[in-house]
Amino acid sequence: MPQPKLTDPEVLRHNVLAFRQMSTFVREPLVFERGEGVYLWDVEGRRYLDALSGIFVVAVGHHNRRVLDAMQAQMERLCFAPMFHGTNPPAIQLAELLAELAPGDLDSVMLLSSGSEATETAMKLCRQYWKQVGRPTKYKVISRYYGYHGATLGAMAASGTPSRRTPFEPMPAGYVRVPTVHCYRCPFDRDYPECGLFCADYVRQVIELEGPETVAALIVEPIGNTGGILVPPPEYLPRLRQICDDLDVLLILDEMITGMGRTGAMFAAEVFGVTPDLLCLGKGLASGYAPLAATIWSARLQEAFWGAEEANIEFGHGQTYGGNPLSATAGYASIREILDCDLIGNARRMGALLAQRLREMDRHGIMGEIRGKGLLWGVELVQDKATKAPFAAELRIGKRIGAEAQARGLIIRHDPDWFAIAPPLTVTEAEIDEICDLLAASIDAVMDRLT
Ligand SMILES: Cc1ncc(COP(=O)(O)O)c(C=O)c1O
Repeated sequence: MPQPKLTDPEVLRHNVLAFRQMSTFVREPLVFERGEGVYLWDVEGRRYLDALSGIFVVAVGHHNRRVLDAMQAQMERLCFAPMFHGTNPPAIQLAELLAELAPGDLDSVMLLSSGSEATETAMKLCRQYWKQVGRPTKYKVISRYYGYHGATLGAMAASGTPSRRTPFEPMPAGYVRVPTVHCYRCPFDRDYPECGLFCADYVRQVIELEGPETVAALIVEPIGNTGGILVPPPEYLPRLRQICDDLDVLLILDEMITGMGRTGAMFAAEVFGVTPDLLCLGKGLASGYAPLAATIWSARLQEAFWGAEEANIEFGHGQTYGGNPLSATAGYASIREILDCDLIGNARRMGALLAQRLREMDRHGIMGEIRGKGLLWGVELVQDKATKAPFAAELRIGKRIGAEAQARGLIIRHDPDWFAIAPPLTVTEAEIDEICDLLAASIDAVMDRLT
């Protein structure tokens, strides 16, 4: 049988992609065939520098030998064992390692397959926990506008980008959203630090107005991706922690993007000096070699789930592919690679270099704010730096820069008003130079066409 041409629109149209206008995609397809380190190749043989680690995923780079060898060995032993019946050695080993690495007394680990599952698991656990400890009225989940916690309905209900949410409304009940922290464009029109962190204190007000006896949890990303890598001031997350403690609300940190060394520490919780009650991981957890996510919660919470069998107080939740031995093997090998090769130190060093190069790059005066930590950087694009006036919406300037970069062989995250860079934690100095040279040339080309 002849092979189908993999870039033929008639062949491609059957393969519906995520968050993607398919009519455009089939005309300008991107079909990846292989990867090595920070590079990807498409089926036509074109090379791309993957300055986004897939989508904040491939922490150890593509085609990592240690991860592949571990998975191949595991494949010969066991590929599937449902967590409904029992567990398996890689899952036990990974859970133990995560319990050791996680901050504070977070030591109970449920292994899952996607970030959406991990955040929904966290929210469900909080609801059941409060019922179990005799406070069944605590069920609401507070989250932030601009937050993104996944695409399934429960996770989406806690997410705050209208275009991602409104097509599927009405959302499940019991979710309350608050404005996010965004010092460059404060939703309360205040300036840091004179604001005294009004946005954090507003969360307290909302919980008090909702009634703390109705609120189960607050879920936040330590650094928000949507909106352009929104880094909070250092006191913001500790303040949220204090508010949760004062009002008996559980704090869930969604570290899907910031976890596994991305911000220059194993978890952003460490960067900001905060211990959550629950931690959600995914993306970089297995570097994308197999679907893997995890929800980790504290010994204090888990205590409410131990008991006699007849009491029937197990956590009433689980998914077919959770604790998959092949995924757990990939996760364990990827974490060992991060630790043994000091990829976190590399993220700090290369991140500092990347930030410096980005700051030197603004020849056109359009980089309104450059913000990030470790190897997670965002650039908000503006027409006028003095007034922070954005470009005309129809220009979709960030999208143009992203498309130009892709045409030149560089993959970045791009939105109409910002772009982000987050290469694998293995990135070298020469590769940072290559990213920045390609990016600068892409910005020049787009700006030259505008004038
Ligand atoms: C912060 C955050 N949480 C949750 C998710 C959902 O993860 P998944 O797409 O694996 O379901 C994402 C995905 O982009 C994310 O960025």
